[in-house]
Amino acid sequence: MTGSLSITAASPDPALLDLPWREPLAEWPARYIAALPKGLSRHLVRFAHLSGHVIAIKETSEEFARSEYEMLRTLQKLDVPCVEPLAVITNRTDGSGEPLDSVLVTRHLKFSLPYRALYSQALRPETATRLVDALAVLLVRLHTIGFFWGDVSLSNTLFRRDAGSFAAYLVDAETGRLHPGGLSNGQREHDLEIARVNIAGELMDLEAGGRIDASLDPVAVSEGIIAAYRSLWGELTGSESFSTSERWRINERVGRLNELGFDIGELAITTDESGRRVRIQPKVVDAGHHQRRLLRLTGLDVEENQARRLLNDLDSYTLAFDKQQLDEEMVAHEWVMRVFEPIVNAIPRELKGKLEPAEVFHQLLEHRWFLSQNEMRDVPLAEALSSYIQHVLRFRRDEAALFNPPTGTLTMPLPVVDEPGSAVQPAGSDSTADAADDWRDRV
Ligand SMILES: Nc1ncnc2c1ncn2[C@@H]1O[C@H](COP(=O)(O)OP(=O)(O)O)[C@@H](O)[C@H]1O
Ligand SMILES: [Mg+2]
Repeated sequence: MTGSLSITAASPDPALLDLPWREPLAEWPARYIAALPKGLSRHLVRFAHLSGHVIAIKETSEEFARSEYEMLRTLQKLDVPCVEPLAVITNRTDGSGEPLDSVLVTRHLKFSLPYRALYSQALRPETATRLVDALAVLLVRLHTIGFFWGDVSLSNTLFRRDAGSFAAYLVDAETGRLHPGGLSNGQREHDLEIARVNIAGELMDLEAGGRIDASLDPVAVSEGIIAAYRSLWGELTGSESFSTSERWRINERVGRLNELGFDIGELAITTDESGRRVRIQPKVVDAGHHQRRLLRLTGLDVEENQARRLLNDLDSYTLAFDKQQLDEEMVAHEWVMRVFEPIVNAIPRELKGKLEPAEVFHQLLEHRWFLSQNEMRDVPLAEALSSYIQHVLRFRRDEAALFNPPTGTLTMPLPVVDEPGSAVQPAGSDSTADAADDWRDRV
């Protein structure tokens, strides 16, 4: 006897009903499962195919599934980079009527990787520092909207490449709380301390497995989050005071915040009684300055540093063709048609899953710079492009999550995982299951 399944979703995909909810997630047949790298977790999390996408399914209690679903929806509305919640499924029972755990379904974040899958041999200090920096930016963004995370860690974060750095996304909101009145300093410090301890533990864990570079000091890297967080927080929220003759400092502060990718909603400016000193204090800060400008101009929706990179190229295009007098949006449109799209379209089909278009564009510009340096001449973009495709892109592993139909083969030369300790799945083998040995041993 089986009861009725209950699905809560904002825009439910009917295909959800085709998944085997009456079976424990651990026992789902391989044809449903997408083999992709995954971070460490408390609950059982598996990826499955759904209408040409990949979804992440987490088995947990009804209460946790519902509250995490709501929290992720709220964070999405607030434009926080996090995974997108799709549904909560409760009232699951197996064939004999025994109750099964509820699940939270989120959309698999395309091109994202857990930190343990971001590198192939030993984690280098520079990479670790970039991860921590990205996490600090995410934490600052969360704190500015009054979100206390409670479980800040590399494992609860997903990373996307962003023009040589990383962009961090929140994946696990289970412990989070939103405080509409903002966070106290004590709450922010508490989160920061959790971050430091967790990161140190995660890096020491890698160290114990011989998977970090000998020169990486887990404690020093983990402490880096505190410095990165404090300088960003200070820049965003700190007040500054200077003499009225230095009014240019107002613009300078605005420029610095824009450089960091933040917009100022409001800047409070006060003068002292003598009228000789000015105090400024940014009020509301919004992340994603370059992202928004690029989106407005071109409709391209990319990460912040990628956006900055693309905008730089757009600006040099405008200069090179002497188009400063023209309407910015028109020139941007022309740049997309004449520069950006031809490049994206020139990527051979079979290599399209390797990297996001904006990241390819960024890497191509870097590659051209290297070629030009080496050969001491201006290498044309078309020439740099074929060299980049032949010598760089072809050798990357796939980072898109859009795979072949469930029965197809997985082309990602990366061992994939479910729980630690299950059977090995060789790279590129038929993805009949996501069972693999502890993949952390192999990256
Ligand atoms: N939507 C998603 N996209 C990509 N990966 C995901 C997604 N949801 C979960 N994961 C992966 O599963 C792991 C565990 O998820 P998490 O929510 O942290 O579970 P737990 O609450 O058990 O710790 C994450 O580290 C991440 O690698
Ligand atoms: Mg987690």
